[in-house]
Amino acid sequence: MKIVNSAAELADGCVFVPTMGALHEGHASLFKLARTMSEFVVASIFVNPLQFDNSKDLELYPRTPDRDVEIAGDAGVTHLWLPQQREIYPEKVTTRVAGPLGEMYEGANRIGHFDGVVTVVSRLFDLLSPASAIFGEKDFQQLTLINALAKEDYKSIEIIAAPTIRESDGLALSSRNIRLSENERNAATVIYRALTAARESKNINSARALMHQICSQEPLFKLDYAEIIDEENFAIATDSTSKQRAIIAGWLNGVRLIDNMQMNPATGNTGVR
Ligand code: PAF
Repeated sequence: MKIVNSAAELADGCVFVPTMGALHEGHASLFKLARTMSEFVVASIFVNPLQFDNSKDLELYPRTPDRDVEIAGDAGVTHLWLPQQREIYPEKVTTRVAGPLGEMYEGANRIGHFDGVVTVVSRLFDLLSPASAIFGEKDFQQLTLINALAKEDYKSIEIIAAPTIRESDGLALSSRNIRLSENERNAATVIYRALTAARESKNINSARALMHQICSQEPLFKLDYAEIIDEENFAIATDSTSKQRAIIAGWLNGVRLIDNMQMNPATGNTGVR
């Protein structure tokens, strides 16, 4: 694996996996997927200050550079791009606006977060000109906004959604999980339990009620939202919505965790039994 500091050292046409480092098996799965598609796989590591609404969160964001190099190399990344701030934001930054969808749910909690995400992704796309780019479904609202960004301004870049990787007890892998104590780590499984219960419910009202009930039973978990939305536009879903997704976010001792799961309305929400 070659490590580069500037996109000028990289040809166009790679499969691209942008990250903020603190790499884990979830990222490795994206890199491996990329490698099945191409012999030219670029991963970037750039902790984007614009997407943090709070300087404390930016400061506390985990940084594990040595391990990152190891994980990226082992998972098939051919070029690891470590841009400097001045490459991404050379002058005064013109922030892109994510629009109304960027103000809901995660965007309502973290003002300006999605403006920061679409701004950095468009800068990364401009600098690298990849053929395709892979994003995890774990950040489903981000994925939806990036699909919209590509449709609008980067039609030649294929956006690929990769499934969420989970621990054996269902906890979605996240760079933030390393900030949890063992107790908090165990409590965090409440999110997966709530999502799977929702998926097994008869209808949306019972799914929503069950998610709230299950989350309220875990005293360490402070729920922010638990909702079933229409995947297309994040409007609150009804039983006749064709593509429904359950989304949950909350806090465990100051660490924000999010997760989501596709519902299966074709069989009356009974995805898994
Ligand atoms: O999902 C992430 O890690 C980040 O939001 C991204 C897409 C790399 C932009 O900074």
